[in-house]
Parts: sequence; structure tokens; C-alpha cells
Amino acid sequence: MDGVVEGQTRLFPPSTNLNKPSRSPGERAKGQPFYNPGMALNRDLSVLLVEAFAKAKGREIDVADALAGTGARSVRLAREVRAPILVHANDAQPEAIAAIRRTVAANDAAARVSIHEGDAHLFLASRRFDVVDLDPCGSPMPFLDAAVRATRHGGLLCATATDTGALAGKFPKAGRRRYDAHHGLHAQAWRSEVGLRILGGAIARAAARFDRVATPVLSISHGHWMRVVARVEDGKKDADVALKQLANATVDGEGLGRIALRDQTAAPWAGPLWAGSLHEATLLDAMAAAAEGQTLARSKETLELLALLRQEADAPPFWVVPDLLQKQLGQPPRRDVLIERLQKAGLRATRTHLDPQGVRTDASLAQLKALW
Ligand SMILES: C[S@@+](CC[C@H](N)C(=O)[O-])C[C@H]1O[C@@H](n2cnc3c(N)ncnc32)[C@H](O)[C@@H]1O
Repeated sequence: MDGVVEGQTRLFPPSTNLNKPSRSPGERAKGQPFYNPGMALNRDLSVLLVEAFAKAKGREIDVADALAGTGARSVRLAREVRAPILVHANDAQPEAIAAIRRTVAANDAAARVSIHEGDAHLFLASRRFDVVDLDPCGSPMPFLDAAVRATRHGGLLCATATDTGALAGKFPKAGRRRYDAHHGLHAQAWRSEVGLRILGGAIARAAARFDRVATPVLSISHGHWMRVVARVEDGKKDADVALKQLANATVDGEGLGRIALRDQTAAPWAGPLWAGSLHEATLLDAMAAAAEGQTLARSKETLELLALLRQEADAPPFWVVPDLLQKQLGQPPRRDVLIERLQKAGLRATRTHLDPQGVRTDASLAQLKALW
């Protein structure tokens, strides 16, 4: 049997983009369904997320893969999640539907996958789901309102974005258009976190329009994609409270990144941003448990990423890069030495998945100086 194996699933990507991670729909050959091998880790995380979520619910859950492409994510979920689920795979492109059918059949997954051909908005308007996944070529924003409405109370909305230039401040006009957000901190080390918080903030605002709350529980920036998973719940009053977690970011006088609950127009700023936690620790613990005994596509990388996310779940926003503070503070200690010193001094300090050199800490410059 031909095709490629990703995780425990046999996929049938078009030969045109089999070996080359694609970044945009433009790289897809005409008339061919879309598959990106560079997204294997993103799909690994989906398997763990859906398994953790289904086990927590203790009943069969339904998942909407609204932009399913070749069905790589849908069929991996159906095949690999060790809990009762039903996946609805939707795509508008006939070639994609043919690929999904083939993948479902080859993996004996017909009992767990329901296939839908049509526009994602109509599909999402047709019913509600426990988990809604948006994996577009580019920005998830055009589908966001439909996805919020389609997510059941207590469900998860997962939004991947590949227009990272718009989110991370490289293309500020696109960021303003698509996300209604300003990003004037693109020259700073933490631009990826600003991008993730813009995406989280946009999801929270979309939910609030429907008197609903969307709380980010997982926020990842990796290579050419960003992804935020948010828990969606009903509740006007809770939506009001959640909106108070939106803020603008500025750079403080010491040059350290801080979230400031004020609008600052003169100095560089970015917002509106989700200013709450990026991840939910209990969800990450459940995902790590789901990884036990699983054969993932990018096992080592996925587990390392999960461990880093867990560390930063309760960490302060943004980070310092010791090397970049050399001018102000002198020869820097090694990253892990600094983290240990800060923790011993009773300050918060962890690594971050967004920068291998970064240290997330709420220490002031004076406190850093004392421990340098
Ligand atoms: C990035 S691909 C999905 C990849 C897939 N989730 C995976 O993991 O391999 C995006 C898909 O969205 C589909 N699409 C774009 N606009 C759509 C719309 N309005 N309704 C339904 N499908 C759409 C495209 O045909 C394409 O297959």
C-alpha cells in the first residue's frame, strides 16, 4: 500500500507537496488537496488534546474538522485517540473529499469519521460540537464567528494561524485588518508572544459578541504557525469579566516586557492582547498522560514542547534574554543558573517555548542585577 505513515495513520498526500512543508495555498499544486508534513507536530498535539478532553468528559465527544484538507487530522484523531469520539471532516474542495474518503477507508476509520462536502460556514451553522478545529491556509479569522457559535458550552475551539507575519507585527496593516489589533513591538524579542496574545484576544472578543467566554488553555507558536485552543462557555457576566483580561502591552522603563493595563499611544505598544495565562496546567498534565504509550509522529519534539508549555503555564508574560542584558548588567550567567538563582530568591522564573534563551520572570532589573 502506498502513502505515508504519520503517527499511526496512513495518509495519501499528493506527491506535489509530500516532502516539502508548504506555507501557503499558493504552494499547492492546482486541483490537489492540501497536506503539509510540517504540521505533523500540530496534529500530534491534537491527538493528545482530544484524548485528554474526551477522557475528562467521560462520554463520546464530537469533533468538527471544518477545513479538513486530505483528512490528515480527522483520520489521525479517529485512528489514534483512545477514547470514544466521532470526527466530522469537512472541506469545500472535491479533491479533498476524495482524499478524505481514501484515507478513511485505508485506515478502517469509517465508524469514527463522518464526511461533509461544503462551505465551512454552512457546515458549522448546521449543529454544535464539543471540539471545533480551524486549520486554514492563513488566518482563521474569517471562520471564527461561525466556530464560536458551533462550539458547545464547555467545548474547545482550536484555531491555527499561518499568517504569522500579520500576528507577529511584520505586516502591521494585515494585523490591523484581520485581527483588529495593533502590534508596534515587532522589533522586540517577544513578538511571537504578542502574536499569540493577539490571537487569544481576538478569540475572546469573538466569543463575547455571542455573550460567551473563550479562555485560552493552550497557546503555541512553532515555526510557521501559531495555535490557540480556547475553552468556550456561555455566560454574559463571565464574558464581561473575561474582557477585563484584555490589555495592551508596552515596554517598561527598564526595557523589560510587561503587560500594562493602560492604553499608551506615544510609546510603542501592542494590543488588544489576551493578558491572562497562555495555558491551563491541568490540561497540559492530562495531555502528558495521554502521551504515555502513544506512537506520535514527532514524539520527542512533542514531549519536549509539552514539558516547556507546562513550565510556563503559570509564568509571567514575556521574558528576558540574559545575553541582551549584558550591556546593562555585565557578563550574563547561564540561562539555567539564572533561573535557579531567581527561584531560590523566591522569584518566579522558568524557560519559555518561544525562545531557547529566554527566562520568564517577574524580577525587576534591580533584582536581576543582585542575582547576576
Ligand atoms: C490547510 S488546509 C487543511 C489541512 C488539514 N487540516 C491537515 O491537517 O492536513 C485548508 C483547507 O481548507 C479548505 N477550505 C478553504 N476555504 C474553505 C471554505 N470556505 N469551506 C470549506 N473548506 C475550505 C481548503 O480546501 C483546504 O483543504
